[in-house]
Amino acid sequence: MPEERWTEDRWTNVDHYFNHLFVHSDPVLDAALDSSRAAGLPQIQVTPSQGKFLAVLVQATRACKILEIGTLGGYSSIWMARALPEGGKLITLEADPKHAEVARQNHLRAGLGDVIDIRLGKALETLPKLEKEGVGPFDFIFIDADKPATAEYFNWAVRLSRPGTLIITDNIVRQGEVANPKSTEPNVQGVQRFCEALAKEPRAFSTAVQTVGSKGYDGFAICVIT
Ligand code: SAH
Ligand code: DHB
Ligand code: MG
Repeated sequence: MPEERWTEDRWTNVDHYFNHLFVHSDPVLDAALDSSRAAGLPQIQVTPSQGKFLAVLVQATRACKILEIGTLGGYSSIWMARALPEGGKLITLEADPKHAEVARQNHLRAGLGDVIDIRLGKALETLPKLEKEGVGPFDFIFIDADKPATAEYFNWAVRLSRPGTLIITDNIVRQGEVANPKSTEPNVQGVQRFCEALAKEPRAFSTAVQTVGSKGYDGFAICVIT
């Protein structure tokens, strides 16, 4: 529909306008995007302004220990890790060895090799190991992996939290399909199940924000553990 095309162009223009003001061009982040593209990874990382949004939240919460579920080429983890104070750490979980390898190179190029720890494996297998290792509680958790398992990742995130932990979950709007009770799409059903679990979780003080931009129409769930 031409009208929808016009709308998406506007969102992208405004993203470029804000990027120009707030998100300064950065060779390390550009190289991370270039190498992810060259390696054939799906181009589904957060946008530059969303990356900066995560960084602002990391600084605002003074997070020292971050957990990310879903690394891809390491773009969002570079944004968050750069916002950590000296001595801060980020653990990121990735199931695909190729994604993990591309991310590792991107983290090394960013000088974050000692800050970011990529754990290769299915997140639902790695999360119980993190609990046994006692590496938690995390101050900040970003959930951004396979959408059908988002509710399970959220359960684990709560277990690995302390009062005050901020949990951000990506891609919960899915072009508005989250509000379609008839959707049969597994990703949509996954985020619906997650939103219902989030709303019921007694330890979570939560809301959701819709976003538009160069990556289309989507949104984040935001919650603080009480
Ligand atoms: N956070 C990244 C984007 C992540 S895309 C960014 O914004 O830069 C989602 C990632 O989750 C993909 O790399 C995919 O391979 C990974 N993934 C999918 N299923 C997974 C699982 N079961 N465990 C861990 N990672 C998984
Ligand atoms: C998808 C996954 C993401 O993490 C994202 O940011 C956008 C889309 C997806 O699987 O469709
Ligand atoms: Mg995402």
